[in-house]
Amino acid sequence: MNFDSKFNKGNLIDNIPVDENSYRALIQLLKKKTGLNFEYYNKSFIEKRIKSRMIRIPCKTLSQYYEYISSNSAEIKKFTEGFTVNYTFFFRDYDVFETFQDLFIQGLYVNRKDIKSNIRPDPAKLAKFHTKTNAVKNLHKIRSLTEKPARYYIDIFIFLNQLSYYRKMKRPKSTNNCINIWSCPCATGEEPYSIGMILDNLETQVPRFPDYKIVASDIAPEAIEKANIGVYTDDSMKEISDYYDNKYFTKQKTHFGHTNIIKERIKNKIEFVVEDVTKGHQMPYKYDIIFCRYLLIYFNRENRHKFLKILENQLNENGILILGKTETLFNSWGSLQLIDTNNRIYIKSHSKIN
Ligand SMILES: C[S@@+](CC[C@H](N)C(=O)[O-])C[C@H]1O[C@@H](n2cnc3c(N)ncnc32)[C@H](O)[C@@H]1O
Repeated sequence: MNFDSKFNKGNLIDNIPVDENSYRALIQLLKKKTGLNFEYYNKSFIEKRIKSRMIRIPCKTLSQYYEYISSNSAEIKKFTEGFTVNYTFFFRDYDVFETFQDLFIQGLYVNRKDIKSNIRPDPAKLAKFHTKTNAVKNLHKIRSLTEKPARYYIDIFIFLNQLSYYRKMKRPKSTNNCINIWSCPCATGEEPYSIGMILDNLETQVPRFPDYKIVASDIAPEAIEKANIGVYTDDSMKEISDYYDNKYFTKQKTHFGHTNIIKERIKNKIEFVVEDVTKGHQMPYKYDIIFCRYLLIYFNRENRHKFLKILENQLNENGILILGKTETLFNSWGSLQLIDTNNRIYIKSHSKIN
């Protein structure tokens, strides 16, 4: 029976029963066959994936699906591919990237007026793409948000000092005397490339710019492959300003219009890695800045803590963690303290501030 043709898919998904035993057995089977820690994720998120596969095959019960996937390696591949949601685009939440740039401008004592950089896209472009967070309205909100916790002014001062310290370090570069940045998860590369463009743009204008290293990782091999190729459709360009588009992309005509190819000098700045971050990080570095945006939302409460511990350990003291706009650790988690509510920025600090 073709389920899709008979019913509305949303209702169908809601009506599929999930028995606990088959669910547990399936998670164990997937873990054994793929090595992935599926138990880290929210049950509702995994259930949705299971049910959407059940509808397609079709299978009426979860135990039927278990039997099917047990003897079908192609189905295991399909299940995991669709499980990782690679949705991303350049300068996603551009105000976060403006703040990231500001940290460097302040930390390196540069006069903002001397820097050519326009991260904020033209409102006409935002309106054309109907960007998700109603970004045009957001422009006004950002301007009115001036309040920051006391920590911002104290701890961030130490972080900024560290940036100017790196500037004075002797070359050649090593991971101990340069700013280490980790984009985790990076999906198809738009986030680390946005970081790379901002830093390259500053580097060409600020004398004695500190050395930096950008590592980017994701669990999905096909996403990392795409990131390494560095060729993008216009969907990835919906929040990029003309300034960065013109400076760092070349266009190539195709039958359907054109593609956007990131310049080699930015590609060369990023080290891409395939890894399941719930098992720890495979690179031997500690980081000054970690972008961990739109991953925590998928994790269940219990395992979220194990994962946060991994992030906390990978951060240098006074290093900062940037979460997605819909993610929060409230005012603090362990040594991670909130310093910027709007941009969900936390600093690793053991100092107490009342
Ligand atoms: C929505 S994207 C976020 C990309 C980017 N940070 C952004 O904000 O646009 C979520 C990514 O998390 C990756 N992911 C999911 N589980 C992961 C894990 N255990 N380890 C590493 N990456 C994971 C997915 O493959 C997907 O590319």
